[in-house]
Amino acid sequence: MKIKRVYAKKVLDSRNQSTIVVFVKTDSGKQWCAAPSGKSKGKFEKKSYGKKGLDHDIEYINSYDFSKTKIEKFADLKKIENEVGKKIGANSLYSLEGGLLKCLANVEKKQLWQYLNSDIKKLPLPVGNCIGGGMHSESKDNGEKKPDFQEFLFIPQADSFKKAVKINIKAWKMCKVILKEVDKNFKKTLNDEYAWETSLQNEQILNLMEDVRNKILKHKGIVLHIGLDVAASTFYERGKYKYYNPRKFLDKKQQISYINGLIEKYKLLYIEDPLDEEDFKGFSKILKENSQHSLIVGDDLTTTNPERLKKAIKYKSINSIIIKPNQIGSLIKMKEAVELAKKSKLKIIFSHRSGETTDDTLADLAVGFDADFIKTGVWGKGRKEKLKRLMQIEGEIR
Ligand code: PGA
Ligand code: ZN
Repeated sequence: MKIKRVYAKKVLDSRNQSTIVVFVKTDSGKQWCAAPSGKSKGKFEKKSYGKKGLDHDIEYINSYDFSKTKIEKFADLKKIENEVGKKIGANSLYSLEGGLLKCLANVEKKQLWQYLNSDIKKLPLPVGNCIGGGMHSESKDNGEKKPDFQEFLFIPQADSFKKAVKINIKAWKMCKVILKEVDKNFKKTLNDEYAWETSLQNEQILNLMEDVRNKILKHKGIVLHIGLDVAASTFYERGKYKYYNPRKFLDKKQQISYINGLIEKYKLLYIEDPLDEEDFKGFSKILKENSQHSLIVGDDLTTTNPERLKKAIKYKSINSIIIKPNQIGSLIKMKEAVELAKKSKLKIIFSHRSGETTDDTLADLAVGFDADFIKTGVWGKGRKEKLKRLMQIEGEIR
């Protein structure tokens, strides 16, 4: 494949903050890829931009001569990483590699998911963030509270992706109706990921979700699971988990038993980052109790980094992993993480970031790498593009 032109520029994400989009022109066609941005980032994520920042990454990409770089297959992205990978950050590298990869698919006249694996016959299940707290939600100036956990998730199981998305939207609408009744401070506002903002406490929300689940389950044949992204590192300080709504400080042991209790009480299928991002051993205590019935998911713990995943496997910390391509930047390393996770029988969840663009590359990556789940919101700008793309792929697969 002959690279004719690579052009990077700034684009605004759903939070109106600058991120990067890269356009790639080759002899097989033109493609683009934009990187999202996180807010509750893991400490071990690669930096989004190089030392000199986004503008410098853009300048660097735009002045680099790619015409001599021979990219013929996925593994050749390594050449890009060797040549420019150290000079730019993870967002910039991901956008560049994403654009090139889509052009490689063009060479074979395939869509990206087909290029990655044309035998795929199933889609991931959608994980929908319905109610939000933590760093993704605003704390109101008048001292109003927000939940300490970051994401309250529904995971429907249905016989098609499209139906599952519809169930998530229905559950999200039902959450609004109940929040209006039970939260006197409810302003009908949505957070960064289009989840409802509320002043309710974690467990009040879980009760509400059970209510929604029971109402939806009345419709025959629907299975609706409840999940949480605790994002525990965001409220962990010097050995304590600091809760503000209601106020309580838990030590590690107390946090583990609190989480185990919630899993049991609410039959949680999915629990992401229940402990601090450095606590591999603590995770393994939670997994030991719950491995038969729940997914204990690493996000900040593993940061799509094969080295951290190896450690999580060694300690038996998790049975599921979040894959966010721009946490690591390198698609080669992302693939390595996915393959290692599969070999160890971990479930795979491809995930959006809280600051998103309209780019839908994530959908193709999730399908092509045979993910079990995709976490990309219930709907809303930056989310619906991925969901629509998945529905389109579903139409082609079936
Ligand atoms: P983000 O976090 O704000 O860094 O995208 C989302 C998550 O923790 O899953
Ligand atoms: Zn997370």
